[in-house]
This record gives sequence, C-alpha cells and structure tokens, in this order.
Amino acid sequence: MTAIPVDSTRLAMPIGEAMFTQRSIRRFRPDPIPPADLRLCLEAAVRAPNGGNRQIARFLVLTDHAVIREFGALYREAWWAKRRDERGWTRPEDIPPEEKTYRAAAGLADEMKDAPCIVLALAEPPGWANSVIPAAQNLMLAARALGIGSVPTTLHPTVMDRVHALLGIPGDVTFHFCIPLGYPRGSFGPTRRRPTAETTFVNRWGTPPPWA
Ligand SMILES: Cc1cc2nc3c(=O)[nH]c(=O)nc-3n(C[C@H](O)[C@H](O)[C@H](O)COP(=O)(O)O)c2cc1C
Repeated sequence: MTAIPVDSTRLAMPIGEAMFTQRSIRRFRPDPIPPADLRLCLEAAVRAPNGGNRQIARFLVLTDHAVIREFGALYREAWWAKRRDERGWTRPEDIPPEEKTYRAAAGLADEMKDAPCIVLALAEPPGWANSVIPAAQNLMLAARALGIGSVPTTLHPTVMDRVHALLGIPGDVTFHFCIPLGYPRGSFGPTRRRPTAETTFVNRWGTPPPWA
C-alpha cells in the first residue's frame, strides 16, 4: 500500500509569524480537527532532530470524546497534585489573583476533558526527553500554521499508572507532554519574554551580547 503524500506546502505561514504568535492556547472551540491536518502536524513533528536518528518519539492522538473525558479527569487530578506539591494549593480560591498563568492553567485543567484532540508525546526506551521536545515544538508550530492552538503540559506521578492503563501504554514507554489541540476561543498573539540581552551571553558566561 502506498502512503498518501504529505503536502507540506500547506504550512506556508512565515516561520517568524508562527513562532512569534504561538502563545499558549488553553480554551478551545469544540470543532474537530480534520484528520489530514492532524497528520500534517505529526509529519512535521517526526521531522524534528532527534538523538542518533533513533526516532524514539511516539505520539498517542486522542480524538474519542469518551476517552478524552476519562483522560481529562486524570489530567485535572494531576494538575492539582502538582500545585499541592509546589505551592500547597488545593482549590481555585488558593490561587492568588496575580498568578494569571496559573489561573488560566487551572481553567485548562477543568476544560481538558472537552478538548477536541489531545496528543501525548511519549518515548520508547531509552526515553530521552531531548529526543521528544524538538518534535513536540514542531508539532505545535505546524498546528499554529494551520490555525490550531496548543499548549505543552505535563502530568504527575500520582496518575501515571492510571494513564498507562486507560490508554494501553506499555510500562516502558515514557510520558513527556500532553498537548491539547483545537481551534482557539480567543486569539493567537505575541508572548511576553525577558529581553534576550538578559538571557544571552557571548563566549563567556556573563558577557552580554552586542545588542545589549
Ligand atoms: C515543561 C512545560 C510544562 C508546562 N506545563 C503546563 C501545564 O501543566 N499547564 C498549562 O496550562 N501550561 C503549561 N505549560 C505552558 C506554559 O505555562 C507556557 O509555555 C508559559 O507560561 C509561557 O506562555 P506563553 O507561551 O503563552 O507566553 C508548560 C510548558 C512547558 C514547557
């Protein structure tokens, strides 16, 4: 059987536009993502660099609403377990109003169960994260170019056995990211980052770059 060719020309958005407007999207419309678009995101993902070209990254794409609902409950539990460990927060009222990212992330923890699609980025042994992270970013940039929003998220050890059991993931396969995908409620837009003059050194730690 011959595979259907990949039409990478559909990812025609200038790379600068994709990278500079790829803010986290945590609220999604319910519309499903066409399978051809999902495939294009995955084709972009697997073209990323990876250690020794061993291609250990694996992707589990959830589109079945019943499965997403069950996974969403575990995601929510995991999100709150992380907050309890990190900050001692156990309920929405514990999140200070100025913690806007956490408040938005708490909203996603509630809404993950309704995401139209979730991609889990995983790895076969030896499970290296650094062979999966470039692929995850390629996937999210391709999604951005297709008008699909995303955000990389993680889980918590307390739910991992149940996630593996729910989705039939072998025990030796390592989880790295849970990436919801969907058309945004709200808009893409710029991100706020520290100036590179503060985060970049040249030749020796502490030496500022010429544009500082
Ligand atoms: C390793 C990692 C873990 C993250 N975990 C979460 C998460 O659990 N929930 C969430 O909503 N966003 C998560 N994010 C997204 C970050 O909050 C987001 O990238 C950061 O706040 C910058 O947001 P912006 O790109 O929209 O400016 C994670 C990002 C990374 C790289």
